[in-house]
Order: sequence, then C-alpha cells, then structure tokens
Amino acid sequence: MPEEVLPDHVRRNRAQWDEWAAEYIPNGERSWRLSRGDEKWGIWDIPEAELHLLPDDLTGKDAIELGCGTAYVSAWLARRGARPVGIDNSEQQLATARRLQAEHGIEFPLIHGNAERVPYPDASFDFAISEYGASIWADPYAWIPEASRLLRPRGRLVFLINATLLMLCMPDAERAATNELLRPLRGLHRLEWSDEDSVNFALGYGDWIRVLTGSGFVVENLIELWPKEGATTDFPFVTPEWAAQWPSEEVWIARKG
Ligand SMILES: C[S@@+](CC[C@H](N)C(=O)[O-])C[C@H]1O[C@@H](n2cnc3c(N)ncnc32)[C@H](O)[C@@H]1O
Repeated sequence: MPEEVLPDHVRRNRAQWDEWAAEYIPNGERSWRLSRGDEKWGIWDIPEAELHLLPDDLTGKDAIELGCGTAYVSAWLARRGARPVGIDNSEQQLATARRLQAEHGIEFPLIHGNAERVPYPDASFDFAISEYGASIWADPYAWIPEASRLLRPRGRLVFLINATLLMLCMPDAERAATNELLRPLRGLHRLEWSDEDSVNFALGYGDWIRVLTGSGFVVENLIELWPKEGATTDFPFVTPEWAAQWPSEEVWIARKG
C-alpha cells in the first residue's frame, strides 16, 4: 500500500519502528537461537514448555505472524513443521529477519505491510500469532477481523499483549507502573506517549471479548503471565515486584468458530 494511504497510526508506527529496529537486533538474534521446546515468551522469558502456546505438531499447517519483527516466532513455527508467513510494518525489522533467515537456513515469506490489511485470500491459514506485534501496535477493531478473515474454520489465534491492568497503571513507556489507576478503563483504546511518535492500542476485557466474538472467534483462554522469582526485565515500564502482584502481560487464545 502506498505510504500516503496508510492510516495515521500505521504511518507513524512505521517510521518509529524503523528507528527502533537496531535496538531489537540482540533479542532477535538470541530468540532465533532458541531451539524447539526451549522457546521463551514475553518480557519475563516464560518457557514455552510451561505455557504451551504453540501446537506440538504444526506439520504442513499454514501459519501467519502478525507484526513479526525479527520473525523469531515464525522461525519457531517453521521448526515445528509449519509453513509460516511473517508480515511487519517496518522494513528495518524485516531486514534483520531476512539476515537471520539466511544465517539459520530457514526461509519463509516476509511481507512488508500492515497487519490490518494482509495481502492473502480469505481462509489461507490454520494458525495466527502475534507477540507484541499487531496485537499492541495495530487497531484491534481492524486487525482482529482481519485475522478472522485469514483463518480457516477452527483456526486458532494466539496473541500476547501488555495486560489491561498494566495499561491503566503505567504513566508512560519509560516509567514503571504505579499502584494507582492513572487512566480510565472506559474507552481504553488508542494510546500515545508524549515522548514518542508512536501509537499503541489496548482494550478493556469486555471490549476484547466483544471484538473477538463479533469477529467470529470463540475465546478459549486468557492467560496471565507472572515473572519467576528473581526475573528481571530491561523494559522500564514495569518492575518485577509490580508484575508479581498484578498481570503485566497476558495471552489471549481464540478459535475461529
Ligand atoms: C515488539 S515488535 C514484535 C515482534 C517480535 N515479537 C519482537 O518482540 O521483536 C513490534 C513489531 O510490530 C510491528 N508493527 C507495528 N504496527 C504494525 C502493523 N500495523 N502491521 C504489522 N506490523 C506492525 C513493528 O514494525 C514491530 O516490528
């Protein structure tokens, strides 16, 4: 899609993520090296062996990662037998993904585009996933119906986001969550931090359920992620102490009806 017709948040997030891409190279390299069964999720590195977010056998399944960044989750899917496709809004993130594909000898399509409008026909995929990708940077009222369109009947959607409660208690992306509710839950949707030219999205629980069910999904699970004793994170917006008491990250799992 030509840049001028991109929605405002997609255009701004594209420029911001092209700028941030270099900072995400070390985590991309580390995560690409994680072997099957040893994958780690989110900012607290929770093992896949505990969470079981990925089906054990994806042999021959078509999968899409929405907002793939450096595409390590797609690499994990490929190692589990899937045929992944990654789509991302940032050409710079995809440049890292392409280099890592070549280094690891794992090739799959990488598309530069907006996960709210994916250039694939209806019912192209069995599995869709987003780890802090479209799940927080794209508008849920656009990307959730698009994920539904892309999935085959009974296809599964898994996405990891900053927990709703965290988004109510975080002053901004650079300051750790407090014990106070800093913004209303009512109307929670589009968020902009004053020191960044990016736009991210969050919803209240009822709104997540309504957009999912309204898009043809059955909600199967909502998993709160808790850091292990002694866990740390480089991200400034939450401390381990906060995240041990309230959910900082959550995973939604839904199936296309
Ligand atoms: C935190 S990264 C997530 C990828 C990977 N799991 C990671 O943690 O590095 C966020 C990614 O979402 C991408 N993104 C933002 N808006 C998007 C959109 N509308 N469509 C597709 N990708 C998008 C960004 O370009 C960025 O690469």
